[in-house]
Amino acid sequence: VEVFRKDYRAPDYAVENVDLDFDVRDRTTVVSVLRIRRNGQARADAPLHLDGRGFELLELAIDGLAVAEANVERDDERLLIKQALPQAFSLRVVTRLDPDSNHSLEGLYRSGPMLCTQCEARGFSRITYFPDRPDVLSRFKVRIEADAQRYPVLLSNGNRVEAGEAADGRHYAIWEDPFLKPCYLFALVAGDLGCVSDTYTTASGREVALQFYVDKGNEGRVPHALESLKKAMRWDEQVYGLEYDLDIYMVVAAREFNMGAMENKGLNLFNARFVLASPDTATDADYEGIESVIAHEYFHNWTGNRVTCRDWFQLSLKEGLTVFRDQNFSADLNGADVQRIGEVRQLRTLQFAEDAGPMAHPVRPDSYVEINNFYTATVYEKGAEIVRMLQTLLGRETFIKGVQHYLREHDGSAATIEDFLAAHEAVSGRNLEGFRRWYSQAGTPTVGIDDEYHLLAHTYTLHLEQSTPATPGAPDKKPVPIPIRVAFFDGEGQRIHLPAQPPLMPAPDLILLEDAQATITFEDVKVRPTPSFLQGFSAPVRLQFGYSSDQLVNLLLHESDGFARWEAVQRLMLNAFFELLSGPAGDDTQALLKGLQLLAAQHFDDKALLAELLRMPSESYLAGQLQPLDGEKLAAARDALRLRIAHALTGPLSVWATAAPEDQGAINVGRRALAGIASGYLAATRSTRILDLCRDRAGSDNMTLSYGALVALNDIDCPQREDAMAAFLSRWRHDALVLDKWFALQAGSAIGNGVERTAELLGHPDYVASPNRIRSVLGTFWRENLRAYHRADGSGYRLLAEQVLKLDKSNPQIASRLADGLLGWRGLAAPRDELLRAVLQRLVQQVASPDVSEKIHKALAG
Ligand code: ARG
Ligand code: ZN
Repeated sequence: VEVFRKDYRAPDYAVENVDLDFDVRDRTTVVSVLRIRRNGQARADAPLHLDGRGFELLELAIDGLAVAEANVERDDERLLIKQALPQAFSLRVVTRLDPDSNHSLEGLYRSGPMLCTQCEARGFSRITYFPDRPDVLSRFKVRIEADAQRYPVLLSNGNRVEAGEAADGRHYAIWEDPFLKPCYLFALVAGDLGCVSDTYTTASGREVALQFYVDKGNEGRVPHALESLKKAMRWDEQVYGLEYDLDIYMVVAAREFNMGAMENKGLNLFNARFVLASPDTATDADYEGIESVIAHEYFHNWTGNRVTCRDWFQLSLKEGLTVFRDQNFSADLNGADVQRIGEVRQLRTLQFAEDAGPMAHPVRPDSYVEINNFYTATVYEKGAEIVRMLQTLLGRETFIKGVQHYLREHDGSAATIEDFLAAHEAVSGRNLEGFRRWYSQAGTPTVGIDDEYHLLAHTYTLHLEQSTPATPGAPDKKPVPIPIRVAFFDGEGQRIHLPAQPPLMPAPDLILLEDAQATITFEDVKVRPTPSFLQGFSAPVRLQFGYSSDQLVNLLLHESDGFARWEAVQRLMLNAFFELLSGPAGDDTQALLKGLQLLAAQHFDDKALLAELLRMPSESYLAGQLQPLDGEKLAAARDALRLRIAHALTGPLSVWATAAPEDQGAINVGRRALAGIASGYLAATRSTRILDLCRDRAGSDNMTLSYGALVALNDIDCPQREDAMAAFLSRWRHDALVLDKWFALQAGSAIGNGVERTAELLGHPDYVASPNRIRSVLGTFWRENLRAYHRADGSGYRLLAEQVLKLDKSNPQIASRLADGLLGWRGLAAPRDELLRAVLQRLVQQVASPDVSEKIHKALAG
């Protein structure tokens, strides 16, 4: 069933108190006692709506009396109580759960030595009957009882108010959360886990206990996550003036987790890969990922928990804002340029593709069939871009005041995106009417710019226009306000300062394109400027401007904005890629190589930035640039580009490839990134020296170096690769997180028949069907191994579809993520489009979950 945003109605009943009792045995019995009160606006005979599925119902009673069957209406997902209800009453629900056979990893489930929960978005209703909607906020009290040997650790939200022994070698704990929360923020953990603890003193001097629970033996891999948490707590105090509000903050690392992590109040649950790190097992990129996800979940304590969402259409209210906050945190800690480049790469690869495909939806969707399908790059990353534009328009200081005002106004309640914008209007005095369109309109706008320089008149004119392509079900698009940060340079790379021209150009470095078209003319311009548009990627748009190669090289060498330099080299790389796609190297390839040679001669303190400037666009990014898509051709042209660059830059690449320090520290992070990129290029030349070096380095005790060497070898069919891969596998066979990397490398390799190899990986003795492993193999296969996945015989599509179908029954959320690989059949080169469509037509008959079926239906329709 499709749910529509316009159909929102406030709940008839409030749940004031939730009293939960978990009796953990082979099965788990849950007694839930709710204190319920009818809301003021509700009719006296309003039925009570409860959500629930996947459990056994043992008891249902109101004020101590069993609810009669005749007064109940029930289907697979909900229950309606239709008897006359007093203004306030108590509801008792007893359910029995089987967490060991719950493979959806939603609700209460087993992950290795523990039972744990995942409730967002609608997992709480897999535990008991409850109004499972985010605008019902309650005070929770939780008692957990379990075997003391098997489950020594018993956790839930808030403060532990009591604990003790129970009969038969059992024990119990009682937790109380003083803050109002919706049920999606409920969490429970019962397990045999190691604990690492510390304390944090807040700005106002309160001491907070920090506790990290991990599989025993992994305690040594916690310090980085713990330090990241403390940095995030400090940062939120300093930047937003927001302090933590409970006396304890717990993080639990689960082996089996469908997504990255979950911000349950006071008790975050994490995918272990975003907690555990040591230099020998985690790469520098893993370290950054952990820092950012730890911060993200922590920042949710205010933007998400203290103020939550009224309904799931408002999801970006918490996610877009919280992603924006974690992005700023990472930029402050690790450097803004490289951080921004990574964000843009991700946005363009994932979100632009989504916006151009059958699942395109506004950041605030109007309808959904399965809400889990809307935890998307659009809601998260495009949502964060919108918040960033808001900050650009209002200025940082006013923006922060706006966020604070929003939090003050809505503390302890469920809010809307509209509330958020209204708060910014209130503090800034600005009208954000046009800006709202960013939330309601799907599709990536294109901005086209032409410039004209009059040599005699000394005038320089910019013609700008914008348009947004139609998306499924939404053919008509209106203009949106697009902030375009801009700078101008002369031919030698010196800044030219052109004056502001309000309102179209409110500041000398900002154009605000609000209409479909606009023109700006500058007088008295002595030389033809090279414009640098969209510095810092100031808006999530595609920008078209007819840059000459010379202009791009000029920007690559002389822009001070790191993103703009990267953008220039991306354009040069894309031009060369397209040239090599259709024939031999020509002017575009030469221009790129010349630009890179000049770049290599420059001095760089920021080695990480240099590494980013040299990195080739990924296959999945290039796929979004190529219509119709022929994955085999694409991969071949990319290989050719790699080899060209390797030959043109052999000298500097060899220097960078050898400087590979093992110590932590920011400067070494940059050097290692550069060494990895450089070895990747050089390996393509198959020089024995570099292949030997990579084989040896693959055995390093520093995972960044080891993994970087394996990535460099991964597409080269040579004995060094074989040796290095075999040694890595036997060394790390018993470490799930490192083993995930080995599996991803195999699934991503260009060598041999990638479809057969990927199918074999699924039967490998070390393969287990955990979400992380499934993503390592099948996610890498379809996203990053285009020559295998898009084989013209369709075998890649059939392999992925088979796996989607298999997972559809056990874990629909993971199945649905993988199904993303099957949706874009319209953009494929023949005969692949028809082959994939046939696969979809078969699949749509077979799938059971709303998750997968919503996507396949949309793919076939739109
Ligand atoms: N709120 C979590 C986060 O962004 C993610 C929850 C994802 N839930 C889901 N059903 N996909 O930190
Ligand atoms: Zn989040």
